Amino acid sequence: MDDQSFSNSIATFSAKFCNELDKTKSVVSSPLSAEYVLALLALGSIEPTHSELLTALGVRDDDEVRSSFCEISSKIRSIQGVTLNVANRVYIMEGSYELDDNLQKDAVNVFDAGIEKVNFVNSQAAASLINSWVENKTNNRIKNLLTPDSFDENTRMVLVNALYFKGDWDSKFNPELTQDKPFHVNSTTKINIPMMYKEDEFPYAECQGLDSQILIMPYKGKSASMAIILPSQVDGLDNVLTKLAEGFDLMSALKNTFSVKVQVTIPKFKIETEIDLLQVLPKLGITSIFNAQKSGLDNMLKSPEPLYVSKAVQKAFIEVNEEGAEAAAATGAVLMLRSAPLPLSSFVADRPFLYLLLASDNTIIFSGYFQGDSGDTT
Ligand SMILES: *[C@@H]1O[C@H](CO)[C@@H](O)[C@H](O)[C@H]1NC(C)=O
Ligand SMILES: *[C@@H]1O[C@H](CO)[C@@H](O)[C@H](O)[C@H]1NC(C)=O
Repeated sequence: MDDQSFSNSIATFSAKFCNELDKTKSVVSSPLSAEYVLALLALGSIEPTHSELLTALGVRDDDEVRSSFCEISSKIRSIQGVTLNVANRVYIMEGSYELDDNLQKDAVNVFDAGIEKVNFVNSQAAASLINSWVENKTNNRIKNLLTPDSFDENTRMVLVNALYFKGDWDSKFNPELTQDKPFHVNSTTKINIPMMYKEDEFPYAECQGLDSQILIMPYKGKSASMAIILPSQVDGLDNVLTKLAEGFDLMSALKNTFSVKVQVTIPKFKIETEIDLLQVLPKLGITSIFNAQKSGLDNMLKSPEPLYVSKAVQKAFIEVNEEGAEAAAATGAVLMLRSAPLPLSSFVADRPFLYLLLASDNTIIFSGYFQGDSGDTT
């Protein structure tokens, strides 16, 4: 699989993922962060779980998982002008428990994962160890990813991914031009929120297929950017999310933009989201790993035990302002032993919209939507 087709697979997964999140409020997520954890589970699974995970990830076989994730990680590491970090870690129960030999090789070689022993019986200390690692990898933006009650003597393993982005706009907004302006929360309600303004040349298009305007604003170094898909209707976001989830070719739409002079008005915003992946992933066809009776996660441990995913969460954060953006996400999955429980154009983003944070080749690193609020936290 070449680079571009894996970027397409990530776009497909991201679209389906985003379409299953809470549509009543603003959201930030990193479907890619979840994919890292799912990919490691795929390499430790047997049929039919194995096929279920590969299908959801949009890859053909284990070798393609390996080559795709090696490539995406090296792409992330080589990005210019901005900070973009990815980190993976495997925590495994103290004592005689070891990762399966093949999985251990993949964890290290493909995912560059650190492997650490932890006593999950001391659940408070285990949570604090894992959460501190996440905080450290996300510039303290993601705290308390996993609660102590996630762990007990039946916990065997925790897989964690952390992604962190910080970049300045290639061309910054002038804070003096930021003003409170109306934002249409829906067709009947307007609120006043701080809107930033600038006039510059940006890749832009009117996309009829999505009945939206598309604007791409680069960060410093020009290999990362933010794409905003702004529906022409105040209540058009749901339609955009549905069309993308149904397979609308967003990658082509992003390519079909042309540099034009644009007067850009977009909100400053800060969003935090917590996602229970036990609710979201089954809607993407991923169910077996959560099945305590028959998860198919047979190749995770050296001395196999019946394991299943008892908990899977993602926390994400984004702040967009005049300088640029900072975004962070962490995904954690807890594996338990079965006996446990279960032209001069105008672009005014004054209505709910979809946003994507893109790395080189338009690889979606973060995605979410803004609806005038600040997500989970307020
Ligand atoms: C993360 O840990 C490293 C090594 O201990 C330290 O140098 C760095 O400042 C930490 N980062 C944060 C954000 O705490
Ligand atoms: C619009 O949003 C406001 C504030 O959230 C809410 O009270 C109202 O019911 C919404 N109206 C419609 C038509 O959804």
